[in-house]
Amino acid sequence: MAILCVNGQFVEVAANPSTPLIWILREQLGLIATKYGCDNFVCGACSVVVNGKTIRSCSFPLSSINEGDEIMTVEGFSNQNQAISKQLPVSTVNFKVALDAG
Ligand code: FES
Repeated sequence: MAILCVNGQFVEVAANPSTPLIWILREQLGLIATKYGCDNFVCGACSVVVNGKTIRSCSFPLSSINEGDEIMTVEGFSNQNQAISKQLPVSTVNFKVALDAG
């Protein structure tokens, strides 16, 4: 049993310490935005951020996570952006949408 901090929330997971983080995120926590690609540390589809550093979760075993480490997935970044957008005046949000659209 391990306690992880994922997207700002503490969660308890049960897995073998050698289990790659991607499978804990996807199968136990339902965070499926973390994708499975090459399984060979090449494509980056499984990238997540741990303590501000991008890692490949397909090659990052649970045993490499320390208590208190902060894991951020795509879902976490998406929630952050939505929270920031809600704080911005409407005209600023429209400007940001226009920039994102190209
Ligand atoms: S699945 Fe390709 S680097 Fe992890």
